[in-house]
Amino acid sequence: MASGSWEEFFAVHLPPTDFEDNRTLLKEFCERHDKYGNKIVLVTSGGTTVPLEHNTVRFVDNFSAGTRGSASAEYFLEHGYAVIFMHRQKSLEPFTRHFSGQKLLDMLEIQERGPNTTITVRPDSVDVLAPVLVRYKAALAAGAVLQVAFTSVSEYFWLLRAACECLARLGPRALLYLAAAVSDFYIPKDRVPTHKMQSESGAPVIQLQLVPKMLAPLVNLWVPAAYVVSFKLETDESLLIPKARAALEKYKHKMVVANMLQSRHHRVILVSPEASQEIVLTREDIHAGVDIESAIVSEIVRLHAEHLAGGGAGAALPAGAGAAAAAAAAAAGWPPRSPR
Ligand code: PMT
Repeated sequence: MASGSWEEFFAVHLPPTDFEDNRTLLKEFCERHDKYGNKIVLVTSGGTTVPLEHNTVRFVDNFSAGTRGSASAEYFLEHGYAVIFMHRQKSLEPFTRHFSGQKLLDMLEIQERGPNTTITVRPDSVDVLAPVLVRYKAALAAGAVLQVAFTSVSEYFWLLRAACECLARLGPRALLYLAAAVSDFYIPKDRVPTHKMQSESGAPVIQLQLVPKMLAPLVNLWVPAAYVVSFKLETDESLLIPKARAALEKYKHKMVVANMLQSRHHRVILVSPEASQEIVLTREDIHAGVDIESAIVSEIVRLHAEHLAGGGAGAALPAGAGAAAAAAAAAAGWPPRSPR
């Protein structure tokens, strides 16, 4: 079934209830960093849901845990970017991702009980916790991260467009890193029942419709000067590169990070109009806990810098802005320099 237009999607789906609050935060964040001439990256992360009821009990979801997005956000901070981390509610987040499940509790010791109870970090955990804590505190002190959350695909699109509207002022200093696993299918609002579907009514027949691809207005209208990196996920290797190339051809953005579902955490291919570059972690890297996102982000940062140095589609940085930004960030201890 053909998808409607993106304008129609926004006309039919109301903004989320916390939308205005988030829009204000996005605007303030972008204005502040723009003033210092900083680069901002929008990292999208995690999967979107497709609700089956307006009062949602059930929804269609996908596999993404936000591993790629949350790790990448940390590496962008290390490269001096301010980061808008737009993530699926309850998916992995930068810094805390290192301590998911019971890991954090296992690092703590309780000394006494009663009114003088103290809790300390186990000596053998300090080396693990401290570097992450240092980087987290530095990012916080510098106001270098803004986190906004979505759950459904329509919430994702409302936030995405609002973030783009705010980022547009940065021109080529804005980098979009669209790692979220966004649903291609949804149920049109008028076909979604208000209340929980009842089993007495029999098995429901659910017809999904195509979601319009938001990359088209994003690249052409919302942030035409930004450096846009999209992702392509496939399960059939033979489709991966052709589809990545087709996306570049169609949307005319800068890069597609192509990955296979099964190997996404140790192999990706960076596909640009000019070339493609495979990044593969060795067995030793994996064993040592190396994040592939470190290499992906380094390469994208390098290409973005080249793009900016080349004039970034004609828009130059304001004179002196880089030095002012560096001074302000250094005063706040950002970007952090601690080793990983
Ligand atoms: O979270 P992890 O478990 O670490 O997994 C990471 C990841 C596999 C989710 C990530 O690396 C990844 O590949 N994300 C993109 C997955 C995806 O949505 O691929 P796609 O081929 O369906 O979409 C391609 C691009 O189109 C995406 O960048 C998406 O932002 C964009 N899109 C998608 C749907 C839509 N309606 N409009 C869009 O613009």
